[in-house]
Amino acid sequence: MTEFYNLKGERIFTPGPVELPDPVREVLGRQIIHHRTEEFKEAFLETRELFKRLVDDPSENFVFFASSGTGAMEASVQNFFKEGEKVIVVEGGKFGERWKELALRWGLEPVVLSLEWGESLRAEELEDLLKKHPDAVGVLLQISESSTGAYNEVREIKELLKDEDALLVADAITALGVYDIDPVEWGIDVLVGGSQKAFMLPPGLSMLWFSEKAKERLNDRAYYFSVKEELKKQKEGQTAFTPAIPLILALKVSLEMLLAVGTDKLEEKYRKMAQGTARALESLGFKLLPEKPVISLGAFLPPEGLSADELRKKLLSMGIRLAGGQGKLKGKIVRISYMGMDYLDLLQPIGALELALYEEGLLSAPKGEAVGLYLQSIAS
Ligand SMILES: Cc1ncc(COP(=O)(O)O)c(C=O)c1O
Repeated sequence: MTEFYNLKGERIFTPGPVELPDPVREVLGRQIIHHRTEEFKEAFLETRELFKRLVDDPSENFVFFASSGTGAMEASVQNFFKEGEKVIVVEGGKFGERWKELALRWGLEPVVLSLEWGESLRAEELEDLLKKHPDAVGVLLQISESSTGAYNEVREIKELLKDEDALLVADAITALGVYDIDPVEWGIDVLVGGSQKAFMLPPGLSMLWFSEKAKERLNDRAYYFSVKEELKKQKEGQTAFTPAIPLILALKVSLEMLLAVGTDKLEEKYRKMAQGTARALESLGFKLLPEKPVISLGAFLPPEGLSADELRKKLLSMGIRLAGGQGKLKGKIVRISYMGMDYLDLLQPIGALELALYEEGLLSAPKGEAVGLYLQSIAS
């Protein structure tokens, strides 16, 4: 068994938080500025302009909150729905469960469209449920269900909701900044994002974008998470409460980085990394859990006879941190995030897994075959 003596500590390949790029770290290392200043206001308004470009929508219909992603999920439930209203919740993993819990907590009546963990939404099932529940005023789902790695294609259900009152509320916490999401074009009414994912920032900042249709439903139920109050202030370059100042300043840098590449090119890059990693790991005997995988992370079942958590421990000894399973997938899968990664970064976890399998006696020699397949995949 090789001892690794990792002088550089560990690399983080988990679906949040993800590693911070140098320009982001540079901004975060500066002295704080006060938020009731022209300097902050100017930077905040510039950040808002950049965010409009990210979502390809010139409207002011979005706010940032000083919270993790769940805060913006909660805000979606509070601000656009009222007690006693019925919503359809797509529940195919831990984060779908969270929509249901939030809906119950805020007095809504969730109708659950339950999926096997790893399955993706089928438009026909939603269509049937909408027919059965014509009084439903919302459909809550994940674009990327990070606990299973399954992708839900919201564009397939756009037509179903076009003439309905129901709002499509999409948790894009591990999808925004990965997919080239144009919420208006995709038929989304509320879109939620989080800083510690593809934005490559520390946790603590969430984003909530909404459509004109959703705007008409805004209510006054929330206090800290009031979209109306925040919007009034944020349009003017201020916030209702003390903002996460360093995170806003760092978001500006991160958005500049993402937009310099282009959202279409970013999606293409993530797709290649995801496909290349899947090809490499399948050659080692891993299996992708979801039928329709996302491109922000891969959720893999380990080869027969190998414990997912032991494997993760082994990789950690090599300085590579992967994520495990959550909820009913605890101990069963390993998850590798691609968010914030460059092509060649993935050589490390793929190489480490190949080495781990050799050390476990599953390979006769670590020949770099998985690494080779990955390289071929990204070179094609
Ligand atoms: C799809 C999805 N939704 C919601 C969340 C919750 O976000 P947070 O942990 O930032 O509150 C996560 C976090 O991993 C996520 O991946």
